[in-house]
Amino acid sequence: MKNFYKIFSVLLFLSLIFCNDAFALQLGRRAKHGMVVSANDIATKVGVEVLKKGGNAIDAAVAVGFTLAVTFPSAGNIGGGGFLVYYRNDGFNTTIDYREKAPSSAYKDMYLDSLGQPIPFKSTKDVTSAGVPGSVAGLLFALEKYGTMSLKDLIQPAIDLAENGFKLSYELAQSFNSNYDEFVNYPSSKKIFTKNDEKWSEGDLFVQKDLAKTLKLIQQKGRNGFYEGETAQLIVNQVKANGGFISIEDLKNYRPVERPPIKGTYRGYEIISMGPPSSGGIALIQALNILENKKFEKNDFHSSEHLHYLIETLKHVFSDRAEYLGDSDFVKIPVNRLISKEYAKEIFNSIKNDKAISAKEINPRMFQFRESIETTHYSIYDSYGNAVSVTTTINSSYGSSVVVDGAGFLLNNEMDDFSIKPGYPNQFDLIGNNANSIEPNKRMLSSMTPTIVLCECIPSGKDKRPFLIVGSPGGSMIITSVLQVLMNVIDFGPMGMDIKTAIDLPRIHHQWLPEEVFYESFSIAKDVMEKLELFGHKFTPRNSMGRVEGILIDEKNGIIFGASDSRGYGLAEGF
Ligand code: GLY
Repeated sequence: MKNFYKIFSVLLFLSLIFCNDAFALQLGRRAKHGMVVSANDIATKVGVEVLKKGGNAIDAAVAVGFTLAVTFPSAGNIGGGGFLVYYRNDGFNTTIDYREKAPSSAYKDMYLDSLGQPIPFKSTKDVTSAGVPGSVAGLLFALEKYGTMSLKDLIQPAIDLAENGFKLSYELAQSFNSNYDEFVNYPSSKKIFTKNDEKWSEGDLFVQKDLAKTLKLIQQKGRNGFYEGETAQLIVNQVKANGGFISIEDLKNYRPVERPPIKGTYRGYEIISMGPPSSGGIALIQALNILENKKFEKNDFHSSEHLHYLIETLKHVFSDRAEYLGDSDFVKIPVNRLISKEYAKEIFNSIKNDKAISAKEINPRMFQFRESIETTHYSIYDSYGNAVSVTTTINSSYGSSVVVDGAGFLLNNEMDDFSIKPGYPNQFDLIGNNANSIEPNKRMLSSMTPTIVLCECIPSGKDKRPFLIVGSPGGSMIITSVLQVLMNVIDFGPMGMDIKTAIDLPRIHHQWLPEEVFYESFSIAKDVMEKLELFGHKFTPRNSMGRVEGILIDEKNGIIFGASDSRGYGLAEGF
């Protein structure tokens, strides 16, 4: 009997621990000092170590960025580009644009044949699809200006992981294998991403000696270790041998740009996000401005009313994206109007509460013309109160699938984010016009939406403080994923809907064209869908939308919550 009680109390104790853990997981990871959330567990742990050593969020972002290039090569990169949004603890905020650029020899119709028709795959595959990479320049710029630690120390974990290898997770092995048919087309890619021409298994050691060498050159020579000398020559050799466009001069001339963030407000929260050449910040703020005109209660989540207004809003936002947005260094964008509350009110007033508007009614000008989706996001909050939100990409999963021989990294296929022909959809079915047409040295329009939300959660009369740090991959679905997570937290339970639930709940997507509402499993109840179909909405199921990596800061209670989207296999970890 005594033994029975012993066993019973041990089981009770274990079940309490288990329940407590399950509860903690539901809320996301908790920490008191700092948090890193990325799509890859190894990269997250590298970032947390930097924070523990006293590095700030920028230091950690640089270490995570280089590590992702080694441990998450489908989207982490040194051969692509990205955007970083930074909030410093004294209230200063800024963004760093290290988006890829069109090579200087690029021209408007470079992906069209003599009849003006798009040449299949020229903008999406092979070296012809690559823009001039920006990631290395961007990360080094951020470190020099806002970091505190040495590049030597921050890049060392990435070098070690490339040099000595790391054991493949089940997911990463599967990911390499699912791209096998692409990798075998290129000897340089086959060498790295197949196991002696065979497929990989979980637990295999994945070593990248060439990449380690390139990272060491960056460690020794800074940006010149990538944009000049041996690495630059290897890139150009790879590109020129196969009809690509990037030149030695293009690499030498690449510079990141520090730009003011795009800012807005939503129900008293302040939104800080990425401006052009990303459409993300403008689209997010425009959508929030429109939706602010409607009051939602907690139980309205995914009601017919909530979904109808969300869908109608998205149609307007993506129509404006297609018409007006591109690289603001090349085209004039009516930013102030697009993110004004007045314009949002006009759009809101035009939305009928029981009828879906057609794409043509919204924008007949653009209608006449008629985004594997990989990219990755990481969010960081440090013990000093600084926040960093970074989204980075080589566009498709594994970019162009072409590894630079001898340098060990993948080239992006970002040129497809240009509008290669007015109205012709890119791989994300996004269309555009002249604002996003190809020009030499222009940056292609992006949907990346690295965002920081501030609140005055403890009324102090001081600056607002970081409340949410979020972003996502997913092409055009980046914008809608970030929007829905923000609404989930702010509209459906401020401090009530936790960050993990807000991220994991199923999502929907509409991008004006095609005229379809895409939805994840379990996102819409049957009767709600039937009602919305009567309004004129058409529904198409879709597997998975975005992979949000987010942090929520509960300043009042001194808790930092981190959550990695259950759609992926990342890690939130703090200390
Ligand atoms: N390549 C995806 C994006 O930048 O939106």
